[in-house]
This record gives sequence, structure tokens and C-alpha cells, in this order.
Amino acid sequence: MKEIIGEVPGLAVILVGQRRDSQTYVRNKIKACEEAGIKSLMTELPENCKEEEVINAVSSFNEDPSIHGILVQLPLPQHLDEEKILNSVKLEKDVDGFHPLNMGNLAMRGKEPLFISCTPKGCVELLIRSGVEIMGKNAVVIGRSNIVGLPTSLLLQRHHATVSIVNAFTKNPEQITCEADIVIAATGVPNLVRGHWLKPGAVVIDVGTCPIEDPSSEFGYRLTGDVCYEEAVRVASAITPVPGGVGPMTIAMLLF
Ligand code: GUN
Repeated sequence: MKEIIGEVPGLAVILVGQRRDSQTYVRNKIKACEEAGIKSLMTELPENCKEEEVINAVSSFNEDPSIHGILVQLPLPQHLDEEKILNSVKLEKDVDGFHPLNMGNLAMRGKEPLFISCTPKGCVELLIRSGVEIMGKNAVVIGRSNIVGLPTSLLLQRHHATVSIVNAFTKNPEQITCEADIVIAATGVPNLVRGHWLKPGAVVIDVGTCPIEDPSSEFGYRLTGDVCYEEAVRVASAITPVPGGVGPMTIAMLLF
């Protein structure tokens, strides 16, 4: 791009607070940008910052012509209005696809969002590149967050899967999951999905990344998935590990 159009792509990341999983995501995203020759700028704000400060940071990146993508790392601290902040990101710079217009277009047939959020896109790309058929299959998405569960279920429907969404109030999550050809778990509850929840041969994608104290690892903690890997690996035909599964794919999709 530098040679052809004289521009280097630029990503801006806004990180509020000290969540360790968010810090890991952001660190990995910035490192990947460096490796790919993408300019990256980061604004870090304290946990107790005012909404106005976050919106000001977004606004200045909105106006910066060297920045083409803006990412506000989620979740934000409780006192901040997430919707208002995400709404303030310029639509054409919403690389996360979290702006309500991008999310709405993802939900509607015949509409095309400018961006699709990178975790759902990474999950579906993993399925496609692993030769897993999506069309006509039963898919279960466990979790209905705006970040992963909701857009993943919408994207799977775009690929013509029959999609069930399991949430914390679902009466029989095991039974519903047992019927799925494709299981995507995104709850943040470590080891929630056990081996007996799965249909033999199911394809399992684990999006969970819950930090668990571990003094022996580099940063004092390690990330644990939503799926009990040791059990699930005996039942599934394919499964993503945590870490090293969806995470790197998510980042690849963001840069792409
Ligand atoms: N938190 C967890 N996943 C994501 C993501 O894909 N984007 C942002 N902005 N925050 C996240």
C-alpha cells in the first residue's frame, strides 16, 4: 500500500482500565500490527476515567487521517455507556463491526456490513479453512454477548446454519448442545462445556479466555477456555485449544 497508494494503514486502540484479558488482547493486536507493517497507536485510560475522555479519544482518532481503524477494547468499566462510546466511532473506521449500523446490517438479509467483528469472522474462517460444512448444519452458540455470541450467531445464519443460542437461563443447555454439529462456546465460564455435552464428531470452537492465577507462567496467569479440553478432545472431530486457537485467528481477521 505504501508503494501503490502512498499510505500505511493505521489502527488506533483505546484501552480503559487494567483487565488482564483485555491487556493480553491489546498487546497481541499491537504486536501483530508491528509484524505486518501496520501503524498502531494506543490510548490507555484509567479505570475511573470519564465517558467524555473516552469519547474525546475516539473523536481525535476519527479525525486523524493516518488512522483507518479504531478499536475500543471491550468490556468497558461499568460506569461508562458502551453504546454511546461505540456509536461515536466513525462508521468507516469501525473495524470491530460493533457500531449498531454495522451490527444491524449483519443481521439483515441482503445488507452488507462495512466490517464484521473479528472473533466471529475468525471462527467461521476456521470452519471454512478446516473444510467444515456450515450450510444446513446444526450450530449452537453458547453465550449471547454483543462481542461474540450475537454476531457469531448472525454470521452462522448468513452461512445457512440452523442456529440455537444458549444463554444463562436456558433450561437444558446440555441437551441442546448434544444435537449440534458445530459448537461455539463464548461465555467466559472456565470448563463449562464438558465432554458429555457433545455429539460424537462435533466440531468445537472455544472462544473463552478466562484468566486463572498461575505463578509459573510469564504474566502470573494463564487463559482457560469455556470447554473442558481433555474431555472434549475425545468426543469432537475437531477442536480449538486455548490459548492458541481462536485468539491468533481473531487477530489475523482484524489485520485482514
Ligand atoms: N473484547 C473481546 N474481544 C474483543 C474484540 O474483538 N474487540 C474488542 N474491541 N474488544 C474485545
